[in-house]
Amino acid sequence: MSESSDQKVIDAAPTTHAKLAAWVQEIAELTKPDRVYWVDGTQEENDRLTAELVETGTLKRLTDPSFPNSFAAFSDPKDVARVEERTFICSEDEKDAGFTNNWENPVKMKSMLTGLFDGAMRGRTMYVIPFVMGPLDAEQPQYGVEITDSAYVVASMRIMALIGDKVLRQIEAEDAFFVPALHSVGAPLAPGQQDVAWPCNEDKWIVHFPEERSIWSYGSGYGGNALLGKKCYALRIASVMARDEGWLAEHMLILKLTNPEGKSYNIAGAFPSACGKTNLALLDPTIEGWKAETLGDDINWMRIGKDGELRGVNPEYGLFGVAPGTGWSNNPNAMNAITKGNSIFTNVALTDEGGVWWEGMTDEVPAHLTDWLGNDWTPESGRVAAHPNSRFCTPIDQVDMLSQEYYSPDGVEIHAILFGGRRKTTIPLVTQARSWAHGIFMGSTLSSETTAAAAGAVGVVRRDPMAMLPFIGYNAGDYLKHWDSIESKANPARLPKIFLVNWFRRDADGGFAWPGFGDNSRVLKWAIDRIEGKAEAVETPIGFVPTGDSIDLTGLDMTPADVEAAVVVDKDEWATELASIQEWYAKFGEALPASLRAELEGLKERLGA
Ligand code: GDP
Ligand code: PGA
Ligand code: MN
Repeated sequence: MSESSDQKVIDAAPTTHAKLAAWVQEIAELTKPDRVYWVDGTQEENDRLTAELVETGTLKRLTDPSFPNSFAAFSDPKDVARVEERTFICSEDEKDAGFTNNWENPVKMKSMLTGLFDGAMRGRTMYVIPFVMGPLDAEQPQYGVEITDSAYVVASMRIMALIGDKVLRQIEAEDAFFVPALHSVGAPLAPGQQDVAWPCNEDKWIVHFPEERSIWSYGSGYGGNALLGKKCYALRIASVMARDEGWLAEHMLILKLTNPEGKSYNIAGAFPSACGKTNLALLDPTIEGWKAETLGDDINWMRIGKDGELRGVNPEYGLFGVAPGTGWSNNPNAMNAITKGNSIFTNVALTDEGGVWWEGMTDEVPAHLTDWLGNDWTPESGRVAAHPNSRFCTPIDQVDMLSQEYYSPDGVEIHAILFGGRRKTTIPLVTQARSWAHGIFMGSTLSSETTAAAAGAVGVVRRDPMAMLPFIGYNAGDYLKHWDSIESKANPARLPKIFLVNWFRRDADGGFAWPGFGDNSRVLKWAIDRIEGKAEAVETPIGFVPTGDSIDLTGLDMTPADVEAAVVVDKDEWATELASIQEWYAKFGEALPASLRAELEGLKERLGA
């Protein structure tokens, strides 16, 4: 296709928004696609795009009626997770990126990326996806436009965000700001060149320009790298907006719990990727009389409300959940939502019936599968059938337990915050913070073993402040200062109570010290009872832990002594932990807020160190 015919398509840009039209034209001229296509978000369009994706081999339509209108995708084996090493925060001043981020001079980075994007969409269609994160009727809707050359990204974005004409018309009517989010798989096609099922590039760049609030993502088709509304916008870019505007963009689930007396509490929980957010967000309580409702499973935008309360909104429309470990026995709510259909599965295994399967989905393991790499698989194969970071992508409104308040543009008041990680040792099942400042200390020193959600080694303990280590779009010291400043901006009486949790502690035999999943409702009950002043606790140097009999064990094969073991604060383990926390804090230097330094001193003193 000649330059001039490209031009014609672009001139026909169906928008009156001058900046958007100009940006789309600029990117089309740079990336040189065969076609420019504006995504309208309709069902017909989705049917057409998914049919094309089946044609090109990117998607397989599932024929098992248990998964209606659903598809499976299989990525390049080298493109299965977020790539933190290739993720950059290119602030004008290197100091503003801080020690937790990769940084490069934005002018240099742009010029390098411009080179990579030059002609990157040759032979492909360039899709323009107008989207909004959060409700369209929010006081200040947060718009974005993603340009991508991947129809898989379009189909997935349609599940994860509100996209298309409706959003575009409102962006135009308000002449609104939008986050320009540019994505290419980085695999241009020469004339006549046969495409592959999962185009991507060995060279990957996930780059954020915080001052201009823009995103450039190159080389990967994986969700966290390519669905730019999610981690890139709703966390990295939004955290910068939040710093500037006095709110918080956090990596948190939101769950509404109602006790037998009918009193409701909204609980937010920050856990690193693949550490239990989606599972807790879809909790099936195992204790009598308690009701759980889902508000969000990954992202929580919190603003201070009129009465000084913290209010949380989930800006997403879908679930992008870790498949393995999500099953009928431990998470029936997730399975019910998934099997309503309209889902895209990535890197799971295929059953002989044309459905999908992953480790933990059913207690009974199928006798034969096609694994995520396309090989025959039997239980004797001695390897996993689904990739450990395989995912389901499902509309959130298919969750039966979705709270009506999910649709509220003002969000919900947050009454408690959980910080949680995956630790075999040291960290008790649950610990209540002594104060807000102590809670921020707990969050800032949160630690977890690394998982398959990011490329790299698995099982290495690392500090992950507020579960935001890969997602803070600015200097981590400034981020902690920002959290610290919330206390003075909010109504102190309405501040959420803070708890540190660890569902993953091991017992003496190496098994989990706590059954987890639905039984986590018992821990949440203790936390709520603490807020109501009804539950017993033991004061330890690190905070308040439950007494053995203050956790409801009705119906569980556990004793108060087992609870005591799950919450024990071991002197030797904490000597090691304290040293590690000091090492972590030393990295912040002068940037560490004084209140957190004081908390560290307090902990040292209480530990007698
Ligand atoms: P997210 O990425 O933070 O949303 O994490 P998920 O909820 O998807 O869970 C990631 C993995 O942790 C899955 O394999 C789950 O089965 C496992 N998991 C989640 N909650 C629990 C729990 O309470 N106990 C245990 N042992 N594993 C859990
Ligand atoms: P999650 O992140 O594991 O926190 O759901 C999704 C991702 O890999 O970006
Ligand atoms: Mn999740």
